[in-house]
Amino acid sequence: MKKLSTLAIALVLTPIAFADGDAVKHPTFSKDIAPILQENCQGCHRPGQIGPMPLLSYEDTRPWAKAIQKQVASRTMPPWFAHPDSRAMKGDLNLTGQEIDTVVAWVEEGSKRGNPKDIPAPLKFETYEGGWQLGNPDIVMSYPIPNPVGKEVDDEYRCFPIELGLDHEVWLKGVEFKAGNSKVVHHFILFDDTTGTIPRMDAETPEPGCECGQMDSALAGSDILQMWAPGNVAPMPARGIAKRIKKGANLVLQIHYHNVTGADAVDQSEFALHLAKPDEIIMKEMNGQLVSQWVLDIKAGDPNSEHEARWVANRDITAYTTGAHMHYRGKDMGLWATTPDGAKETLIWVPNYDFNWQFSYEFVEPFKAPKGTEFLMVAHHDNSENNQYNPVIPPVDVKWGLATSDEMAFSGISFTYDDEALNITPQVPSPEVIARLQGKKQSVQVGGD
Ligand code: HEC
Repeated sequence: MKKLSTLAIALVLTPIAFADGDAVKHPTFSKDIAPILQENCQGCHRPGQIGPMPLLSYEDTRPWAKAIQKQVASRTMPPWFAHPDSRAMKGDLNLTGQEIDTVVAWVEEGSKRGNPKDIPAPLKFETYEGGWQLGNPDIVMSYPIPNPVGKEVDDEYRCFPIELGLDHEVWLKGVEFKAGNSKVVHHFILFDDTTGTIPRMDAETPEPGCECGQMDSALAGSDILQMWAPGNVAPMPARGIAKRIKKGANLVLQIHYHNVTGADAVDQSEFALHLAKPDEIIMKEMNGQLVSQWVLDIKAGDPNSEHEARWVANRDITAYTTGAHMHYRGKDMGLWATTPDGAKETLIWVPNYDFNWQFSYEFVEPFKAPKGTEFLMVAHHDNSENNQYNPVIPPVDVKWGLATSDEMAFSGISFTYDDEALNITPQVPSPEVIARLQGKKQSVQVGGD
């Protein structure tokens, strides 16, 4: 008989393992459920966000009670993959056993409203111009023309050169993305382009952008400014810290398209740049460091293929965020730091990796890593046929690659150097330049001639 897949075991065990049988007695929506929804669900389940339905009022929530019970008991919702043993993260959505049991008891007892007076005041969600979440953006940009995403597009990386070309450096606090067509956009990466290869390749073909799935070399040397996948708004760094975009640099927006709608589609995604203003003196540049294994050898059928990678800090650093990235065979990943005094800390541990959710996790307290601290990433892939997400059945040997049918294994950190003291007053582009950059987007329909 076949072994039960680890996933199936996890699904069976999870509710029992986590629930501690300590539910609030006779929970009501007003008193017990609304606070749980506010804290853990409404960030996504409100109008304009990625949750498929709002969970704000009793009226919103009641029809979904059974589905909520199921999703919460199985720990599918809220989506949060950092195990509680990880370093404490901001916005941690892990529900306690008591919260899960309370939701389950509420549904089993008929999903009662309770006394409306008990309802906590509704959360105030900041909304900014255009629905951006980090603040009013400084520059909203897009590829000038919409991109056709035919129904045959299964797994395509397209790169769109975006002309920025400022005559001074700017300091970037944050980037937000808005999928033009969320049904076909899987994720984005924004690069600052130092090579000019992508604009040259784009110019050679009439279609918007160019295919860039097999050519990581075109982007070698370019810096990743921001990655994005649904549900993730990367946090802004503290005052005095920002990413540098060099004078004259242009941008490349790489979009991973995955059209499973069965119909031809069109996408024109946008992103918003939030810049540091002259009243914020920049003391430190935010850096990114991947802890990545680039040589993967994942044998067909191996249910637990292990790879690791190390990176050693060569100066005293402070780390702010981390994450985990693999593709569909990704099973679990962790990043550990061992400081020179021998102390070992779990920065992140993702025991049930899910390719569909790629968060960047921000530490509540930044992690101080003295020079010589070793960061160790350990990843496991399940390349057996019991992995229901395995894209190739029967399984084949798999190596590192960009396509989702290849694999990756990286964690990483964003960090600053402790001894850096730049003391730079950032410059922002003039309103005329911003208007010119934003004005490049044309809403023309493609197709025909
Ligand atoms: C980070 C964003 C996010 C958070 C936080 C979140 N959800 Fe969701 N939720 C989603 C998305 C996106 C889907 C659709 C998933 C899909 O289609 O695979 C979803 C689906 C669901 C569904 C299934 C709806 C259906 O069609 O059957 C339920 C029920 C649900 N969420 C409840 C909750 C509850 C309860 C919480 C909090 C305890 C929560 N969610 C927190 C994003 C979120």
